[in-house]
Amino acid sequence: MVLNQLEELASKASEDLGKINDSKDLEAWRVRFLGRKSSLTQILRLLASLPLEERRAVGARANEIKLTLETRLEEKKRELEVGSVVSVGLKSLDVTLPGKPLNIGRMHLTTQILEEICDILGGMGFQVAEGPDVEWDYYNFEALNMPTDHPARDMFATLWIDYEKEGDIRPMLLRTHTSPVQIRVMEKSKPPIRIIAPGRVYRYEATDATHEWMFHQVEGLAVDKNITMADLKGTLFEFARCLFGKDRKCRFRCDYFPFVEPGVEVAIDCFECGGTGCRLCGNSGWIEILGAGMVHPEVLRRVNIDPDVYSGFAFGIGVERIPLLRYGIDDIRLFYANDLRFLSQF
Ligand code: DAH
Repeated sequence: MVLNQLEELASKASEDLGKINDSKDLEAWRVRFLGRKSSLTQILRLLASLPLEERRAVGARANEIKLTLETRLEEKKRELEVGSVVSVGLKSLDVTLPGKPLNIGRMHLTTQILEEICDILGGMGFQVAEGPDVEWDYYNFEALNMPTDHPARDMFATLWIDYEKEGDIRPMLLRTHTSPVQIRVMEKSKPPIRIIAPGRVYRYEATDATHEWMFHQVEGLAVDKNITMADLKGTLFEFARCLFGKDRKCRFRCDYFPFVEPGVEVAIDCFECGGTGCRLCGNSGWIEILGAGMVHPEVLRRVNIDPDVYSGFAFGIGVERIPLLRYGIDDIRLFYANDLRFLSQF
């Protein structure tokens, strides 16, 4: 009898609770089902007068129901608090307010291009090598066939650093190009060698729209028996087509770099005008993209590789130049000004 009454009460209470959506109604519900004058409290109070068997069963069930209702009351309270449009202190949250958009991180434009370049050349079998940003004169100049006072050093406005050890000052510098990595790799490994070296380079230069004092290069080097200019051409033609589209034409012209002989400058036909001449290519129809050449025998000799047995090619790509051309960016300083309005476009 009493048990039936309890079950009815429990289902009525939970049915009513389901319909409640403000705290005033919830309080009325509490008074009605859990309050001092509620049927549940009455039943619990009258337990003592029941016969022993019934007392046990009713007592257990009544307490169970009481606990359930109390738990559900707390849950409902929290639910109403969270959903409350009127936020009170930190405890409540207005779920109707628009959320704050999350900023999704992205890779820096330079990193994206570096990865693209390394992917293409990695696919051709070049392995990535690294060298230090702070370099000795020897690696940056001397071993690259530019002894002290060599006029070609003027091509590289250099940031010098004094390295002091036990009172001795030895000149160091911030590498002006990635070419010193060629020497470091050839010192340590025997041909066949096929590496690329991506990294930062530094020049002592006033900045303007086309010059930065820090930028990136990717160096390439292949040394083996029977490497010829044809290998260099094939590699760079393919590279240019992967990067700028398969219909690109390439042009090789003589250029001078002390560490290669012959040295070349590589250009592609302008992808903007197709070669007829426009602002991007300065009306020439061609866009220079990198310097390259056959490794100078003197450079090979320095690292104990016999130039009569081995030959090699090398190239150096200016990284920022590629997105500058591709996206028509008119100021290189934008790359490292850390302005998200610029960076988040890529
Ligand atoms: N290091 C040269 C520069 O910074 C670029 C370069 C030219 C690299 C010819 C090479 C090369 O490896 O063969 O201007």
